[in-house]
Amino acid sequence: DWTMDAYREEAIRKIREQVGDKKVICALSGGVDSSVAAVLIHEAIGDQLTCVFVDHGLMRLNEAQEVVTMFREHYNLPLIHADESELFLGKLDGVSDPETKRKIIGGLFIDVFQKYANEIEGAEFLAQGTLYPDVIESVSFSGGPSVTIKSHHNVGGLPEKMGLKLVEPLRELFKDEVRALGHELGLPASFIGRHPFPGPGLAIRCPGEITREKLEILRKADAVYIDQIRKHGLYDEIWQAFVAILPVRTVGVMGDGRTYDFACALRAVTSVDGMTADYYPFSHDFLGETATRIINEVPGINRVTYDITSKPPGTIEWE
Ligand code: XMP
Repeated sequence: DWTMDAYREEAIRKIREQVGDKKVICALSGGVDSSVAAVLIHEAIGDQLTCVFVDHGLMRLNEAQEVVTMFREHYNLPLIHADESELFLGKLDGVSDPETKRKIIGGLFIDVFQKYANEIEGAEFLAQGTLYPDVIESVSFSGGPSVTIKSHHNVGGLPEKMGLKLVEPLRELFKDEVRALGHELGLPASFIGRHPFPGPGLAIRCPGEITREKLEILRKADAVYIDQIRKHGLYDEIWQAFVAILPVRTVGVMGDGRTYDFACALRAVTSVDGMTADYYPFSHDFLGETATRIINEVPGINRVTYDITSKPPGTIEWE
């Protein structure tokens, strides 16, 4: 569409004007916003941009490798894969309080990003995929209520701490416009249309203590669930869908044996902006088929439940 084409040209011109011949670093999460920002900036200034993908070991099945491959090989974008899963999972060991988990992950994220960014000599700018709604929200929050429901994971405060100036080429855009721009930049439709994924990753879909065993089970179950949703053509009707692994084992029967495995919960919601949400009304056939597949295909799970809580009173994530 021509308006996005014009926006792209104008954005590229502004990035070049702001950055000159200096270097830019960017925390690439694999989400739509940071990806579109990175590809746009790369188009403007090429190898003056270096991206750092902080891999906390809490991504979905194959996701970290897919992100790294796509940006390195398809976009030829200089990308550092900061594989720090040992560090993150080590510090999260034995932690079950949701806010503590978020603080640990958020704090480590900043430390790790800083460590890798310091190795990029002469960087003067930090790129962020901040959108217009993020700008509005941060304005209305200052001076607004001091109650936050959950501490959100981002790199707030980092630019000042590192003495970096911000490059935020998406600041005037809404989510649907970012998707249009991503399309204009040649990002695959399947990538642009992906459901949102939270910064703390699978940690907040694993209530209670996080273990490698639980994460592995959760990844497999989530992959089966999303596969079911895609096969039934429902992916684009749903704002967000995922599995949460519950911190409880229950008894079941399989063949002629007794099982004692984890229970999981399926979550799917419709929403406009994530602020409010309704649970998705799957058919009983879909739910039954999906439960059977998960139990048959995912060792470690023997019971599947469906979360029918809307937001409010629930939140979309489980923590
Ligand atoms: P909740 O669970 O608060 O989630 O209803 C609303 C939306 O925000 C996402 N979410 C996050 N995104 N960092 C993020 O980048 C976070 O810490 C975070 N926590 C929740 C959630 O996936 C949903 O889309």
